[in-house]
Amino acid sequence: MIYDFDQEINPHGTNSVKWECVPSDNGLVPWDKTDPALGNDRVLPMWVADMDFCSPQPVIDALVERARHGIFGYAVPTERYYQAVVDWMARRHGWQVEPDWICTTPGVVPALYVLVRTFVAPGQKVLVQPPVYHPFYRAITDNGGEIVRNPLILEDGRYRMDFDDLAGKLADPNLKLAILCNPHNPIGRVWPADDLRRFGELCAEHDVLVIADEIHGDLILPGERFVPFASLGQDFARNSITCTAPSKTFNLAGLHTSNIIVPDDELRNRFRQALNASGLPWLNPFGITALEAAYAKGEDWLAQVLTYLNGNLDTLDSYLRERLPAVRLIRPQGTYLAWLDCRGLGLSEERLKQLMLDEARLLVEEGSIFGPEGEGFLRVNIACRRTTLVEALDRIATALAARASAPA
Ligand SMILES: Cc1ncc(COP(=O)(O)O)c(C=O)c1O
Repeated sequence: MIYDFDQEINPHGTNSVKWECVPSDNGLVPWDKTDPALGNDRVLPMWVADMDFCSPQPVIDALVERARHGIFGYAVPTERYYQAVVDWMARRHGWQVEPDWICTTPGVVPALYVLVRTFVAPGQKVLVQPPVYHPFYRAITDNGGEIVRNPLILEDGRYRMDFDDLAGKLADPNLKLAILCNPHNPIGRVWPADDLRRFGELCAEHDVLVIADEIHGDLILPGERFVPFASLGQDFARNSITCTAPSKTFNLAGLHTSNIIVPDDELRNRFRQALNASGLPWLNPFGITALEAAYAKGEDWLAQVLTYLNGNLDTLDSYLRERLPAVRLIRPQGTYLAWLDCRGLGLSEERLKQLMLDEARLLVEEGSIFGPEGEGFLRVNIACRRTTLVEALDRIATALAARASAPA
């Protein structure tokens, strides 16, 4: 089946976080479309990481059929569910997972909270590699942990890990956990196997457990290769816990269905006990149905969406080069997040944010929320119709031109 990602879909009235809410200092608040500051349909939301596209047709069909059944009581995954995950990991990523290793959770972020609580005592430390997905910070500090930063280095338009700094930080005996993000949100880097190996060997040497957040692991752009951390070998698998989900891949985040893969028996028992003690809900019947359909019949859609996203990146890249040369795209190798280096505009963080919201009328993520290393950058979600992307770029170009011609 050929999918049309240019199709316009009315998102209103769907309880969508992206289209019905705005982020504020008090968390998410309903989007008041009559507010002159936000306007009716005048702000384009390009922040929260989900797609403006419909999920694969086989997923929609399976959900409709499940809904028709009419009974929505408590649900648990069966062997078919676990086999779907096992087959997906083997087929897509060459990683042989045992069904027993899979622990289900209603999201990766809730799992990260439980993982920190399980493996890090209050006052102990957790390593992250900023700029990085900001909920990592809260998962650590809300559970009494201390953040240790191993900042990534931007060199010639590409980020790399700082292994010297990493080795020094891992040597602290109070550091218990390292969170690896692969592909890395917000910069879109897909870490090469050699880097993963070096990262894993250093962690093992210092007895530091690795949490590999691979939620974006299926969103690998053409020509790039993703290697699951735990697939590097038994030693890597035994010292790691991998977070996966079909949520980013197939635009199913609202169905809250994630799989945390823990090959080591002892680590898995501790995590399972902590999950039981956390009172988190079980999976929901729609999430189970959607995962099974997506992993069995969604590959055709996934190939097409990746091609479309790559086309969006080409459009973004050439637009910036031709019309906004002061803004540089750090081209992602995975994810649908574009990391824009706006330092060439010479604006303060506050001014950049104001320019985007008040003048360009765009809701994007300012880089500093991913750590101070992100200052001067913006994260833009490009999983939208190409016309929406071009409209967003036109808005930025117009806002900058107006600013340049305004009297000083
Ligand atoms: C790296 C990373 N981990 C986790 C999540 C969210 O996971 P979930 O919605 O399953 O809690 C996101 C969402 O953007 C993400 O980018």
